[in-house]
Amino acid sequence: MHILNTVEEVRAWRGDGNLGFVPTMGALHEGHASLIRASAADNERTVVSIFVNPTQFGPNEDLDKYPRTLDADFKLCEAAGADAVFTPDRAMIYRPGFCTWVEVEGLGDRLCGASRPGHFRGVTTVVSKLFNIVRPTRAYFGQKDAQQALILKRMTADLNLPIKLVICPIIREPDGLAMSSRNRYLSEDERKRAVGLSKALGEVQKLFESGTRTAGVLHGQLVTVLDDYADKLDYAEVVSAETLEPVLEVNGPTLVAAAAFFGSTRLIDNVILGLRA
Ligand code: PAF
Repeated sequence: MHILNTVEEVRAWRGDGNLGFVPTMGALHEGHASLIRASAADNERTVVSIFVNPTQFGPNEDLDKYPRTLDADFKLCEAAGADAVFTPDRAMIYRPGFCTWVEVEGLGDRLCGASRPGHFRGVTTVVSKLFNIVRPTRAYFGQKDAQQALILKRMTADLNLPIKLVICPIIREPDGLAMSSRNRYLSEDERKRAVGLSKALGEVQKLFESGTRTAGVLHGQLVTVLDDYADKLDYAEVVSAETLEPVLEVNGPTLVAAAAFFGSTRLIDNVILGLRA
């Protein structure tokens, strides 16, 4: 597996032929491995980027303590079938005087965007830059970050980027907790309670499957279960999976998404209802 540290090294390695790309911030887990495996199955070669992107963190967020586990990350990438890993440093991505931003208006203001102002502008900017450097044929993202996936799809379409985005299913721990690099911050007690996020979404799904279509009732159930487990609710929403606008009834693909704090760790999870409605 090649370790590429600079833009020039990526360009020299890239050559022609189809290339799968898995952008990450490191602290890799089985969720990332599933993206790398999907890419390795679809493409001649796969490159993973590892870059903790400062512009998607707010001033009081966990940028400085974000887990850095580079050696373990390299091993996971290689075992999952990556051909190369790109590890740029901050000064290479954000050169002195950097002042150009990519922003998808509207979609980035809701849900996670409401509690993390500027977060999605940081994501779309860094992903655009990485796309320009790597020039992938396909790029792989997880459904756990449902809003990020929707925003990146819109960006790719709006900017006519010749890249196919592949959104892969959420990978969960045996008890249902969605895998996340931030799970490692949880204390034993917080880890036990964090399962409440997927439990709450599971309860909503059951209600939906038994015929409930009223968003207010589904939302009520989500909040009631989460209140039993989480230290603080950030948001709980029942919205259109295409526009992220709140819905009154579930008549089509509907995203049920929540973010909650367990201690000081903020976790997100979601489920899509009504895909086959
Ligand atoms: O999902 C992530 O890990 C990050 O938001 C991404 C897409 C790598 C951009 O920094």
